Amino acid sequence: MSRDKKNICVVGGAGHAGLPLSLAFASAGQHVIIYDLNATAMDDIRKGTMPFVEHGAEPLLKQALQENRLTFTTDPNEIERAEHVIVAIGTPVDEYLNPKLRALLDLFSELRPHLRPSQTIVIRSTVFPGTCRHVERFLGDKDSQWKIAYCPERIAQGFAIRELSELPQIVSGCSPEAVESATQLFALLAPEIIRVKIEEAELAKLFTNAWRYIQFAAANQFYMLANNAGADFNRIRDAMVRGYGRAASLPTAGFAAGPCLLKDTMQLAALNTNGFWLGHAAMMVNEGLPSFIVESLRQKYDLAGKHVGILG
Ligand SMILES: NC(=O)c1ccc[n+]([C@@H]2O[C@H](COP(=O)([O-])OP(=O)(O)OC[C@H]3O[C@@H](n4cnc5c(N)ncnc54)[C@H](O)[C@@H]3O)[C@@H](O)[C@H]2O)c1
Repeated sequence: MSRDKKNICVVGGAGHAGLPLSLAFASAGQHVIIYDLNATAMDDIRKGTMPFVEHGAEPLLKQALQENRLTFTTDPNEIERAEHVIVAIGTPVDEYLNPKLRALLDLFSELRPHLRPSQTIVIRSTVFPGTCRHVERFLGDKDSQWKIAYCPERIAQGFAIRELSELPQIVSGCSPEAVESATQLFALLAPEIIRVKIEEAELAKLFTNAWRYIQFAAANQFYMLANNAGADFNRIRDAMVRGYGRAASLPTAGFAAGPCLLKDTMQLAALNTNGFWLGHAAMMVNEGLPSFIVESLRQKYDLAGKHVGILG
């Protein structure tokens, strides 16, 4: 391996965040070890097939395979070979909408025997505030200085390949060495690096998703108000936003789907001992939209004995 080629291991590298990132690093000339427990997805990827829709990814995958820039493994021993270890596993909330912190901490327990302080460990998953310092304390011992960085993923699923080269990358770390190393790594992909404290980066990611979820809720609430008043929200929105920059950020109405917006808004609620009223209000509006639509249908049609399928 040439001296300027990095060996990067992406833990959770077969997932929606991890795989496009692995492909982006591979197309930037790096060697990427994809470490994942999902053997079925790994088989697909190894054969050059994306396990999910991601625009523009498949040609990059095929090229990376051809150039031998990807290695696939379910063996944690392989992680030892990497200079940079990027963690991109899922960080869901539980059935009470509280963050499942254990998933990430359990992962670090599993990985601990294969990690060394000379590596840069980049947490890419969206985390509950304080998690990165917690990981540092968990890994740390008094004689070694670990390099732990937090560089949140901000792509929209499906558009990652384009966005990884367009979006500025937020970079933070538990030490200046970690920040420097992560900066050099992400400078390979991102047009701009934004450095902040690690606590700020954790909140910046969660605020980004909560902000989007709240914006969708505003549009959805207006949609319901307009509908109840017998008016057409799309015509009203168009009249509001056209040529009027101050209203331009009002989204169209629709289901606030995707894997992250609700869970990350709820992570902020959990952080603030459930005192995130705007977040909870957004949840009531956005998650209530399907039943609003069914109710609206019920007023027009006899739904008795019928199944209503809502796609979106
Ligand atoms: N999906 C998105 O568009 C998106 C966007 C921004 C941020 N994020 C964040 O990125 C993180 C990952 O989300 P995702 O959507 O990619 O999840 P995902 O479920 O698609 O992928 C996670 C991957 O991690 C693997 N994995 C789980 N536990 C593992 C373990 N112990 N060892 C090795 N591999 C393991 C899974 O097999 C899976 O392939 C989350 O924190 C999410 O909030 C996701």
